[in-house]
Amino acid sequence: MSGKRLRLSRIFGGDGRTVIVALDHGQFQGPISGIFDLPSTIEKIISGGPDALILNPGIVAKHADLLAGKTSVIVRITGASTSYSPSFDYHRLTTSVEYALSMGADAVIVMGFIGGPGESSSLELIGHTAEVCDKHGLPLIVEMLPQDPEHSADPKYISIGARAAYELGADVLKIYYTGKDSLSKIVDSVAIRVVIAGGPKDKDAFAMAREAIQLGARGVAFGRNVFQAEDPERCVKELVKIVHERCAGA
Ligand code: 5RP
Repeated sequence: MSGKRLRLSRIFGGDGRTVIVALDHGQFQGPISGIFDLPSTIEKIISGGPDALILNPGIVAKHADLLAGKTSVIVRITGASTSYSPSFDYHRLTTSVEYALSMGADAVIVMGFIGGPGESSSLELIGHTAEVCDKHGLPLIVEMLPQDPEHSADPKYISIGARAAYELGADVLKIYYTGKDSLSKIVDSVAIRVVIAGGPKDKDAFAMAREAIQLGARGVAFGRNVFQAEDPERCVKELVKIVHERCAGA
C-alpha cells in the first residue's frame, strides 16, 4: 500500500534508519524539566535534524507551524493516567486514527502492555487500531511494554510482546533495549522495523544506540535522554551520526 510506504520512507529515510525524539511526556508527567516550554524545545530538537517527533495531538494541532517541512510527525493516540494516579492503568485510545491523519500524521503510536490482567484489552486495541491504520495507509507504531516495570527490558517479556504486536498488525515496534545477548533474536523474530526506547536519563544513551544498531535495530526513539541533555540539539546531532552516518560500517 503506497500510503504506508511513502509515510514510512519519510520517517526512516534513505538508509532505512531513523532518529525519533519522543516529546509526549506532558500528557502523563506534566511540564517536566526539558519540556516546560515545549514549543521552544521542539525548535531546539528540530535544529539537530531528527527524522521524526512523537507528539500528542493537541501539540500538533496548535504548533503545526513549527513542524511543517522540518520533520515527520508521529501522533500518540493512546493515554491512560498521570503520575498522580494511585494505580497503573492500561492505555486506551484518547483520540482517533482519522483525527491524527487529519492533522498530517506520518504515523500513529499506541502503547501496549503484556503480563497483566488487562493485557487482552491492550492486544485488542492494537489489533483494531492496525485495521483502521491499514484502511488509511497510515503506519502503526506499537510501543510494547511489560506491565510490571521491573521487566521493562526483560527479553522474555519483550520477545512475546514484540511478536504479539507484529502478528496483530504493527508496522514498527518500539521496545526497550534488552541487551547484547537477546536483541538480535527479538529483531529477527519479527519482520518489521524495531526502534529502541530510551527510558530515564540514567545510562549512556549513545552507547546503547550504537549497540542496538549493530544488533539490528533500525533506530532510536529517545525522549528524556535527549530533551534533558545539557545541549539537546547536539545530542540529536550525535544520535543522527550514530544511527545514519555509521550505518555503512555497522
Ligand atoms: C510515553 C512514552 C514516550 O513515548 C517515550 O517512550 C518516553 O521516552 P523516554 O522514556 O525515552 O523519556 O513512552 O508514554
